[in-house]
Amino acid sequence: MRYLPLDEITEDMCLARPIFSGDGRILLSNGVKLTEKYLARLKEMGYQNLYVYRDGEEVNDFSTPISDQTMREAIQGVKDAFGKAALRQRLNTRNVSEIVGYILEEILTNPTVLYNLMDIKNHGNYYYHHSINVCVISTLIAKEMGFSRDKLKDLATGALLHDLGMVCVDPKILTQPRPLSEEETAAVREHTNYGFQLLRMERDLSILVAHTAWQHHERMDGSGYPKGLVGDGIHLFGRIVAVADSYETMTSGRVYKKAMWSHEAIRQLKESAPEKYDPEVVAAMSRSVASYPVGSVVVLNTHEQAVVVDVNARKITIQFATGPRVNALMELEPDSDVKIEERLS
Ligand SMILES: [Fe+2]
Repeated sequence: MRYLPLDEITEDMCLARPIFSGDGRILLSNGVKLTEKYLARLKEMGYQNLYVYRDGEEVNDFSTPISDQTMREAIQGVKDAFGKAALRQRLNTRNVSEIVGYILEEILTNPTVLYNLMDIKNHGNYYYHHSINVCVISTLIAKEMGFSRDKLKDLATGALLHDLGMVCVDPKILTQPRPLSEEETAAVREHTNYGFQLLRMERDLSILVAHTAWQHHERMDGSGYPKGLVGDGIHLFGRIVAVADSYETMTSGRVYKKAMWSHEAIRQLKESAPEKYDPEVVAAMSRSVASYPVGSVVVLNTHEQAVVVDVNARKITIQFATGPRVNALMELEPDSDVKIEERLS
């Protein structure tokens, strides 16, 4: 299975991971042959990369932080929450808490799982997928930092709803296929205040959920917004979601911006700590997300090319794609002689 840009996908390839529609249904499922017609339609819909395999090729199993079933239910739940907030209706907090429960359950029962997939999303479902990914990454970070289950639940809920205030921002600004003007940027920044106002009215949710949404764009040196809080003045939940949100945003392509590779985003976040991000949180994040997620096509220090077929907290499993060892599997541990030098796709 490879993670490839749309224009490198040919008609002898099949879809290796499902594509979800904006309301959590499966738009295209695993195994579908990617005809020219499908590819043209997906490009039109704004998809930039897909997980694919060549027809007849064996696809290895690998474990993901959350199952496709939980992902689907989470998309529906987040869509419902955003929809209700847009109409200024009360959220279905029971449903939110159920989804958070599923996500926690799956993450806590799989001790070595990493955030190991790049998400397949487009502008139509961006915020739902983004919210769920930030929730998953924040939970992995907090688990790594030794949070109790109760604390994890409030953090995960705050992470899932961190961008809820976006429903109060003019949708025309959010769908612009270009960088925003100063005035538009100021309008988008208001989503932190709106999110706080919406969530603090929800009596069934911890007040920390509202504060997480309020503080996720604050930065350690006071350069963030909306209040310019500094260091420990930012709640730990806000500092965690800031890192998870930045990682997710950096590794997601937008129409006007190319996505960064995971290892590049990790490097950039490390370089921005302690000025912008809490270094302890960044360290926990770098142990929680895969530098080279499953499907990465890489070049090794032996000059052979390989595909990452599995990854967990201890090792990366690669399958050679070129050279005398083609198709053979190899496990790379931190002290292995064979190392990844570059990522191609
Ligand atoms: Fe945000």
